[in-house]
Amino acid sequence: MIRYGADYNPEHWSEEVRREDLKLMAEAGVTMVTAGIYSWAAVEPRPGEYDFGWFDDVMAGLAGAGIQVCLATMTASPPPWLSRLHPEILPVRADGVRLSPGARQQFCPSSPVYRSHAARLVTELATRYAGHPALAMWHVGNEFGCHIRACHCDESAADFRRWLEERYGTLEALNDAWTTTFWSQHYAEWEEILPPRVAPTFPNPAQQLDFHRFSSDALLECFLTEQRVLRRVTPDVPITTNFVGLVQKALDWHTWTPHEDVVSLDSYPDPYDPRAHVEAAFAYDLVRSTKDQPWLLLEQAPSAVNWRSRNSPKPPGAMRLGSWQAIAQGADAVLFFQWRQTSGGAEKFHSAMVPHGGRDTRTFRETSSLGRELARVPELAGTRVRADVALLHDWPSWWGLELDSHPASLEQLETHLAHYAPLFDANVTCDVVHPARDLSRYKLVVVPNLYLLEQAAADNLRAYVDGGGHLLVSYFSGIVDGCDRAYLGGHPAPLRDILGLRVDEFWPLDDSIALDFADGTTGSGTIWAEWIELEGASAVASFGSGELIGRPAITRHEFGDGVAWYAGTRPDLGPLLGRVCAEAGVTPVLEAPPGVQAVVRHGEESAYLILLNHGTEPVTVDLPRPAPDLLTDPSRPVREVRLAPRGVAVLKG
Ligand code: GAL
Repeated sequence: MIRYGADYNPEHWSEEVRREDLKLMAEAGVTMVTAGIYSWAAVEPRPGEYDFGWFDDVMAGLAGAGIQVCLATMTASPPPWLSRLHPEILPVRADGVRLSPGARQQFCPSSPVYRSHAARLVTELATRYAGHPALAMWHVGNEFGCHIRACHCDESAADFRRWLEERYGTLEALNDAWTTTFWSQHYAEWEEILPPRVAPTFPNPAQQLDFHRFSSDALLECFLTEQRVLRRVTPDVPITTNFVGLVQKALDWHTWTPHEDVVSLDSYPDPYDPRAHVEAAFAYDLVRSTKDQPWLLLEQAPSAVNWRSRNSPKPPGAMRLGSWQAIAQGADAVLFFQWRQTSGGAEKFHSAMVPHGGRDTRTFRETSSLGRELARVPELAGTRVRADVALLHDWPSWWGLELDSHPASLEQLETHLAHYAPLFDANVTCDVVHPARDLSRYKLVVVPNLYLLEQAAADNLRAYVDGGGHLLVSYFSGIVDGCDRAYLGGHPAPLRDILGLRVDEFWPLDDSIALDFADGTTGSGTIWAEWIELEGASAVASFGSGELIGRPAITRHEFGDGVAWYAGTRPDLGPLLGRVCAEAGVTPVLEAPPGVQAVVRHGEESAYLILLNHGTEPVTVDLPRPAPDLLTDPSRPVREVRLAPRGVAVLKG
């Protein structure tokens, strides 16, 4: 079964409304709610004084209605009494301002007081609801790092020093790793080390990089504090937490997901952006690849959000299309924020399955209809997406890339999407994976921009190409080690033998530059250029204008049994990726009209081709073989599918 439902905040409503909720949930096909995310103040109105009676009724009602609960641990917004008694739990920004309570997520991740109160509440909660028939899953916290990505208070400083001591062992090792000989930054005592607070100019980059790592780990420790309680009290109940969508810089998902049983993502593509589904697609491929198993779309908006400066509702059909997109890309659950739209509070203009207008609304009709539709395809759950192409993503490299004082500012997600979009448009299914992961199953590996490259990851790439893999690396990759120290001896030092070249200088562009391809065609490059010396590679394209005229721009090198391509500029990536894919034997899922996304979910006995028309025109898609559309007539195989704008088909073959 594909689970279907929403965030449920029962404390907003009277018992009468809650009774109506159960009826409407049945009508809407809701099978799971994630309940109690912001209920801390309601279940513990004063320190140690619990009021769980009303929540017991909620749980009983949901169990009676056959609705599973993904029970939140209620720790996402500590109650006012906690910061009144312990103002030191409030987070401090890099400029020294301590934030006030009155919104949510008002806790310093390193605060032992916050963590112990959270653990105490979770112990109460887990003990109380262990074995409850509604309890299906735990939802720890909520969107860790969404508002508070890092805290710069003295408690965090002490925790940072503990973390650094564990990482480096000695001050000598830390001084070396952080290159503190530079600008007289040598540390003589651990107490001298601080978080990177606002400083006269660029703070030490290695310190900043480690602070990113530490801050992700400090939030992870909050998650683990709760997870350990849950594992002890309810060892058989799976645990998740919802990552902020679309892709979140603050948390290194690769270090988090090993601690979860199932991975969840929240996704809020902007309805005003006609290409928002591509960015969403990237996030879905990334979140799926972190665990290589189905994931949960734990939040999306049924229609408008309230937090952009202008918030468009989702036009008719868009919510259904976006939901099916997540399923196509491996989701086994579709939940919304939120079940019922509140009349007060900061999110009163955020859409809900039950809007202010109640049951007789377009949103309720559309969400209920999707609930019924999903109930017809239970066999999709548990099936897997398979990819021949991997795109490499690494959080420390992202953090390092976007530090200051570089040859030019580059944005990791822009670079990723520039490489991902042509593959998406061509219906080439991608995984998005960690650089040290086993790559042998992929025909092609794309490295959009891996500024920071640990030696182990470089060795992984070398073994991959040596073993017959095809690799495409774009500029400013393999530049620094894990401590943001440039590798010496010509860039990208750890990849030079694989790529058969040496980059002597970076020449970031403020305009486009002409490219002359060896086959006689021409093109242009943007963003970046490099002075490349060939060391075995051949030039596929050379610069055709500017100071670098005649010098290599895009190269190809045979290494071991494989091939390594290098792009020292940003060419039109569609044709380049098309050529690289063809050589690597990568084929699309389907030749489909523009705007149609095609993904296959593979089951043990059947495969399901999911077609999604993101375009504004109706299209006809020819199928490779006759197959029935499970959403229209499962008994009648068809040779072609007509998709309305925002149309969806699920073909079983
Ligand atoms: C998420 C959050 C929800 C709700 C939603 C609104 O970031 O987890 O609680 O605020 O955004 O879009």
